Amino acid sequence: MKWFAVLLGCAASAGAVPTFNKDIAPILYENCAACHRPGQVAPFSLLTYQDAARRAKLIASVTEKRYMPPWKAEPGPHFLNERRLSDDQIALIRDWAAQGAPEGDAADKPAAPSFPGGWEAGEPDKIFTMPSKFAVPADGPDQFRCFVIPMNLDHDVFVKAFEFRPGNRRVVHHAVLFMDMNGASRRLAGDSGSYACFAGPGFVPLGILGGWAPGSSPEVQHDGISIPVRKGTSLVLQLHYHPDGKPETDESSMGLTFGEPPNTALSLVIVNSRGINIAPGDSDYVVKTGVTLPQDVEVLGVTPHAHYLCKDMKVDARLPDGTVESLIRIKDWDFNWQGQYRYAEPVKLPKGTRVEMEYTYDNSANNPRNPANPPVRVRFGEQTTDEMGLAFLAVALTPGADARAFQQALILEYVDQFLAQGENIADIPPEIPPAQRTALVMAETLFDKDHDGKLDEDERKSLIDFLRSRMQ
Ligand code: HEC
Repeated sequence: MKWFAVLLGCAASAGAVPTFNKDIAPILYENCAACHRPGQVAPFSLLTYQDAARRAKLIASVTEKRYMPPWKAEPGPHFLNERRLSDDQIALIRDWAAQGAPEGDAADKPAAPSFPGGWEAGEPDKIFTMPSKFAVPADGPDQFRCFVIPMNLDHDVFVKAFEFRPGNRRVVHHAVLFMDMNGASRRLAGDSGSYACFAGPGFVPLGILGGWAPGSSPEVQHDGISIPVRKGTSLVLQLHYHPDGKPETDESSMGLTFGEPPNTALSLVIVNSRGINIAPGDSDYVVKTGVTLPQDVEVLGVTPHAHYLCKDMKVDARLPDGTVESLIRIKDWDFNWQGQYRYAEPVKLPKGTRVEMEYTYDNSANNPRNPANPPVRVRFGEQTTDEMGLAFLAVALTPGADARAFQQALILEYVDQFLAQGENIADIPPEIPPAQRTALVMAETLFDKDHDGKLDEDERKSLIDFLRSRMQ
């Protein structure tokens, strides 16, 4: 009799109809509730059986398409706080919906997730709040605003953890926290304490302290890593507001936890394409560029950035031995779900690795995200109607490395990258700080041997060789 019971048992569990209480609630609590509960960014809660059952088909369809939970990076490199359902979880939801979304036995139901108020990463050492409340109108376009928050530090600090707390979760769509060392942001803000800023903060930032999008967790640095912040630094908090149909106000804040100095130098590697010029109607415009790493590094995270026309992003590392590792791949870039991706384990890349970026843009009328209708020519720039293509890599150098030499060699890479993309001298964008701009114009003039107003490959190479020879 025994074998028969075993057989029956197997058959019963294989054919069992998934229920909300036993199978579905744990998935929703773990992967959806962070946003789908009262007062959060998602338009409805998914905590109760009734909430979920009446949308069972929709839930099955958005999870099958991997539209929910929002997580743009393709499988490959492992990131912290990845939000990705397994194929089995997706199948369970599909079967549950197909079989009428039964509730199941109350005894199977897990406890509802708890979201304690207060700071998730523990009480921070210092809390910084926006200088004043910001009014978000009921409708109209999204607002992008930079708020300047002086830190008033009397000594340098080392940031170990960053936690952002949106003041009003109904309208705050994402946040990036930049550092400003030289007062540029205060000049841009004037007396009001804030200014409109769409892409970057409008100055060359010293660094990025953190980012936030709905559902993100606090950012705690790996062991031995912390971000140095010098006395005199102002925080520049860039917020993206999405009007929700009624007038709202926001006063967001963030908590910083300080720690020991890092045991190694940190740096930001910027792969940036300025040579963007997309004809109206072009649905497959490809931008490629790259930067060669002058020393061994460990990549801690990557922040890809583009505007509304970009559809596909690929950032790869081509190692000196020819192997190619994916740093991030996004097949359906959505400006509204941009984020910082931090690796679960830092990615080691040897000196000589080329970080290659390949982004594809769709400037056709078929792109529903195209801000222009009919499409118009789109060039590089920081406005909503311009495009950008860049990736920031946060890297740690090896302990004891010469950070200054690394930085200088990188600047040379940037100059090379920039000149390779510039169509002619007049195209040097105004965003380049005046001193560097003048130097570049002069260098281009000097090295433009055939006087055609641009540097061809040989001319560029002699300029770079010259600069390199002067760097000792
Ligand atoms: C990081 C926040 C976040 C997480 C996590 C999240 N959602 Fe959402 N969800 C949203 C937001 C915001 C919207 C509304 C805007 C949109 O559709 O993009 C939404 C919309 C939806 C919709 C409506 C889609 C439509 O077409 O009307 C469904 C259904 C949904 N989510 C299900 C889920 C499920 C199931 C999970 C977990 C497996 C989940 N979501 C996880 C934020 C989130």
